[in-house]
Amino acid sequence: MLLFVDTADTETIKELAETGLVDGVTTNPTLIAKAGRPMAEVIAEICATVEGPVSAEVAAVEAADMIREGEKLATIAPNVVVKVPLTWDGLKATAEFARQGIQTNVTLCFSANQAMMAAKAGATYVSPFVGRLDDHGAEGSDLLIEIRTIFDNYDFDTEILAASLRSPAHVKAAALAGADCATLPPATFRELVKHPLTDKGLQQFLSDWASTGQSIL
Ligand code: E4P
Repeated sequence: MLLFVDTADTETIKELAETGLVDGVTTNPTLIAKAGRPMAEVIAEICATVEGPVSAEVAAVEAADMIREGEKLATIAPNVVVKVPLTWDGLKATAEFARQGIQTNVTLCFSANQAMMAAKAGATYVSPFVGRLDDHGAEGSDLLIEIRTIFDNYDFDTEILAASLRSPAHVKAAALAGADCATLPPATFRELVKHPLTDKGLQQFLSDWASTGQSIL
């Protein structure tokens, strides 16, 4: 499963990218607002840091305007993926982007039927929002399983980008469901390798090693 970071904080992206484990980045208007800088500048900086796909979201709600915005965003860098909301206008724009060879991430997906429509429109990625479904009283990760089954039944090429993941448990559920990619907030990304037994075991090994008085080098 590819791991994307869900942030527009360029310093954090640079720090995490040094691990070599960041496969891409997703942003949204809320994250761009938090960054407090011009969107084009932020997206260009992220694209120069990470080779993989970088989602940049349109702000328009009508298809024609989304297309104009998406065409402009796509000129920022070759790895820009134009993010559009899962609405009829968003799907019309997605189909046009597919004709033009512009990659898309159809976002705000909350049902299997919505995901199927995004795939039929030619989306490169569809983003089911697991955490927000949980907030709404549903089992968000079930949606990933449903979409995986439908996409496999019909050989849809659209990749499932599990989004709105708030915990390592969400990430595990996405991987078990067969999501192609997952986007995580930086804190969750860091938590993925943490385990108290790893820390405890390492402490024991270090102290036992020190007691030998040996050196490997
Ligand atoms: C990703 O593309 C989404 O913007 C993001 O995962 C939303 O996460 P949230 O529901 O925690 O805001």
